[in-house]
Amino acid sequence: MLALGIEGTAHTIGVGIVDDSANILANEVEMYKPEKGGIHPREAANHHAEKVVPLIEKALKAARVGSKDLDLVCFSQGPGLGPCLRTAATAARALSLSLEIPIIGVNHCIAHLEIGVAKTPSRDPVLLYASGGNTQVIAFANGRYRIFGETLDIGVGNMLDKLGREIGIGYYAGPKIERLALEGKKLLELPYSVKGMDMAFSGIMTAALYLKSKGESLEDICYSVQETCFAMLTEVTERAMAHVEKREVLLGGGVVQNKRLRGMVERMAEERGAAMYVPEAKLCIDNGAMIAWTGLVMYRSGIRMTIGDTQIRQRFRTDDVDVTWRR
Ligand code: FE2
Repeated sequence: MLALGIEGTAHTIGVGIVDDSANILANEVEMYKPEKGGIHPREAANHHAEKVVPLIEKALKAARVGSKDLDLVCFSQGPGLGPCLRTAATAARALSLSLEIPIIGVNHCIAHLEIGVAKTPSRDPVLLYASGGNTQVIAFANGRYRIFGETLDIGVGNMLDKLGREIGIGYYAGPKIERLALEGKKLLELPYSVKGMDMAFSGIMTAALYLKSKGESLEDICYSVQETCFAMLTEVTERAMAHVEKREVLLGGGVVQNKRLRGMVERMAEERGAAMYVPEAKLCIDNGAMIAWTGLVMYRSGIRMTIGDTQIRQRFRTDDVDVTWRR
């Protein structure tokens, strides 16, 4: 069985093709990069609309299959930016109708977890999903993927991007902040915002900008922001692992490329006698293969959708999904 998946929740449009043994035959992505400022949903959607058909063709070519070989089309149904989600959904519906193959809408956050389980030795992990738009700690419990902790305001990656713009180091600032942080020596005080099991990041950015106005160095600021945010993420992940008694932690999302974050989570896992797993980089970021794979697993478990079931869900919650495929 061959599934094609279309990812389009935010700045990335991706098309992946997988088979039923989780072999990834193609995984093509294009990222929308705003000239200045943050992501504009309609402009990102225009970018996706322009790129999606060429990406489908590129993916079919890379997988060395024809469109007639596809058995299933899957798409990111949510959560995400409305115009972007609609573009991916429209492309998926068009493929489903023209090729007369079934369609499955996939929860984007769950797809990060499912691809990690398929492509690493991890079987029943706590997922730390840290990206621009999302920051959640998720684990399977009582028939659903439950959110054990999440951001109360913005995703940690979004905060790093905004901070990067404000301090003049450009968009997709994560890697630059990571490099600057290596030169930081002084841990500056920032609000450590863990509330119960949830986190907040925007106040950290405000405090960091205040420290910059007081003359603190960019290196110390980046170092302190990383130490504070990543300690928060690690703490919430550890408490979730203790609560659900799981011995695996899986990382997903663009921010987990950061070596300091990985180092902190790895050390926490080691101290608990647990294992950390990280999928390869192109499976951590938003991509079509994770959507294709999750849709395929859902379809195989008996889930069916009509075109009427494929409306996008901007606030699609991880715990809204009845996880029939894990029973
Ligand atoms: Fe994502």
